[in-house]
This record gives sequence, C-alpha cells and structure tokens, in this order.
Amino acid sequence: MQINNTTEFRPKIVAFCCNWCSYAGADLAGNNRLSYPADIKIIRVPCSCRVNPTFILRAFQRGADGVILCGCHPGDCHYTSGNYYTRRRMTLLFSMMNYLGIEKERTRVEWVSAAEGAKFAAVMQDFAQTVAALGESKRLEDLRCKQ
Ligand code: FES
Repeated sequence: MQINNTTEFRPKIVAFCCNWCSYAGADLAGNNRLSYPADIKIIRVPCSCRVNPTFILRAFQRGADGVILCGCHPGDCHYTSGNYYTRRRMTLLFSMMNYLGIEKERTRVEWVSAAEGAKFAAVMQDFAQTVAALGESKRLEDLRCKQ
C-alpha cells in the first residue's frame, strides 16, 4: 500500500442555488450519479435575487476561495424577474472585485434549470478547476467592527 503525503489544494467553494431551478438541477445531478467536487457547499435560497452582494463578500471574509451563484434561466424565474435583478447586481459587484483584491474569476453567475443536472455538474467541475488554478484566496478583511 502506497501512502501519498502530498497535500493537494482543495478550494472552498460556496454555491448559492435558487430553490426552483438550480437546486433542483443539483438534485438531478445527484439522482443521475453525476459527480461534482465535494468541496462545493450549496446554500439553497428561494431565488437568486435573495443573494445580497454582501453575502458574497462575507463568504470571502469567512475564507471561501470561490463563490458561484446559480439561478433560473432569464425569463424562467419563479418570481418573474428576480434573476434580472441578480444579473444587474452581480455585474456591478463583479466589476469591483479586482479593486477589492479578489480575482474576478473567483465569482461566477450561471443559469441552470431543474432539467440540467448534467450542466450543473459540468459547471461545478469547471468552476472548481478555475478556482483551484488560482490557488488560495486572500481573505477579505472584515471592517465592520473596526474604528
Ligand atoms: Fe430561480 Fe428566481 S426563482 S432565479
């Protein structure tokens, strides 16, 4: 038996998934036994627009190496227009990521429907590879309680 002592970097990734499409897509991926990295921690939200941009910054403050936000395809949001708000908010947030000291590639928005289990697994594999290639993220400083 060979023991491998090399420790390979495994990124910590937070995936916000809307309940109606992306989370169901993740479920379908699981039901179809499609694998995606176990380092991806899914947080189920009612709609992608529930994710305030500060949630993403907070994840980076708490040690995430990457954050991905998944929702219904444009036009398919359960709440009609939630993902249009998401798209605008995240475009603005992502445009500021480099300024904040976090590589923009550590964040992503993807539209995954409930029928796209294979797409969900593929997106997560690809995102995990991208984040792993970037290495460990610099932890954002929490300035809330500082004078
Ligand atoms: Fe899925 Fe709004 S319910 S993005």
